[in-house]
Amino acid sequence: MGAGDSFYKKTVKDINIDGKTVLLRADYNVPLAEGGKITDDFRIKQSVPTVEYLLSKNCKVVICSHLGRPDGKRNKRFSLKPVAGHLEKLLGKKVEFAGDCVGAEAEQSVKALKPKQVLLLENLRFHAEEEANDDAFAKQLASLADVFVQDGFGVVHRAHASTDKVTKYLPSMAGLLLEKEVQALNAVIKNPKRPLMAIVGGAKISDKIDVLREFIKQADFVAIGGAMANTFLKAEGIETGKSLTDADDLPLAKDIMKEARAEAKKRGFIFYLPQDGVVAKEIDKKSRTRIVDWSAHVVADIENYPKRPPRIASRVGDDERILDIGPFSGAFIAGSMQLAGTVIWNGAMGITEIPPLQGSTGPFAHGTELIVEAMLGEFGHRPFSVVGGGDTVGYVEDRRLTGNFDHVSTGGGAALDLMAGKKLPGVEVLQDK
Ligand code: 3PG
Repeated sequence: MGAGDSFYKKTVKDINIDGKTVLLRADYNVPLAEGGKITDDFRIKQSVPTVEYLLSKNCKVVICSHLGRPDGKRNKRFSLKPVAGHLEKLLGKKVEFAGDCVGAEAEQSVKALKPKQVLLLENLRFHAEEEANDDAFAKQLASLADVFVQDGFGVVHRAHASTDKVTKYLPSMAGLLLEKEVQALNAVIKNPKRPLMAIVGGAKISDKIDVLREFIKQADFVAIGGAMANTFLKAEGIETGKSLTDADDLPLAKDIMKEARAEAKKRGFIFYLPQDGVVAKEIDKKSRTRIVDWSAHVVADIENYPKRPPRIASRVGDDERILDIGPFSGAFIAGSMQLAGTVIWNGAMGITEIPPLQGSTGPFAHGTELIVEAMLGEFGHRPFSVVGGGDTVGYVEDRRLTGNFDHVSTGGGAALDLMAGKKLPGVEVLQDK
């Protein structure tokens, strides 16, 4: 991206946007339950400042977005209609809705729009041309407005018609959310208050491989949790029983361990894998849990003192699964955080997202809870705290803690790509300052 931490693309504040018809690309790809109920509105809330800014400048605001992956086909399940209703509540003003994002219906709806009014267009991905980055489709979209504003940070890692080609046909700048996201995430990677600690969880190593490599280069401490930790442990020869592991990722895990060990030889760097875990035979809140202490040799020693712990205390049984990091690992990570200047967190440490397991407050969410408490200064020291997007945001939203962090990203893949130092196509195409 641009030099330093400053944002080098033009934003809505850098041009005279008064009275213009603005095509605003948002990322309203939000989770919907049966009946169209929005279960997490974080992305919609975060889009409000740009919409309000444009309204304050007498603009006609035409918002476009995708929702889900309907594969180029019209599918009611992926309609943005419920988002229009929700946005209306957040803005406290009427939001018109057009049943298509291009063509006669969209054109007429835009024509009927007055300054200071908002229109949301139906899902861009009901047209295969969107993801194909089709030129004619982009031109049709662009024909609806005078100016294009990109504010959908979550989707700028994609080169689609509404993130890339559309900029060929309209003066194109960034919205306020995009600017804030790029600045915040760039700053923590490029110019963090040190020591920099990265906590990475979630299921697949391959999904986060680039950002892991970047963290190994940039951070002072990298802690791994979640199901991806199981794959690392397996690669290290630790028995993981029936735990979720990814056989395809094993070679990758071995490579990463090699890179991390090499880095630790060069400088003061720690790559931390959990040393104990909470295990159970079933993923069920009623199933009996126990702590397996495979390398910390603390919890099991204390529990069995003055006797030596039995072998099973340090071994995951063949029929058991690791479902959370254990108390020693949680305490070690939270304790290390007392020295950190900046903490970036992406991915839960255990199972936090299954409602019958009480989600974020269930029996396998303690490790994640401990990390969050430490990030928020519960144990005295409060580092600069960044939540790197994706499913992790669902957790902090569920706990109503979103506003307590220094930055919570609306991006999933986009946040990971940016932190991994990759160029984001949807940002690159915007006008330079
Ligand atoms: C996201 O949720 O990460 C963005 O909205 C992008 O969605 P996509 O992965 O379906 O392109």
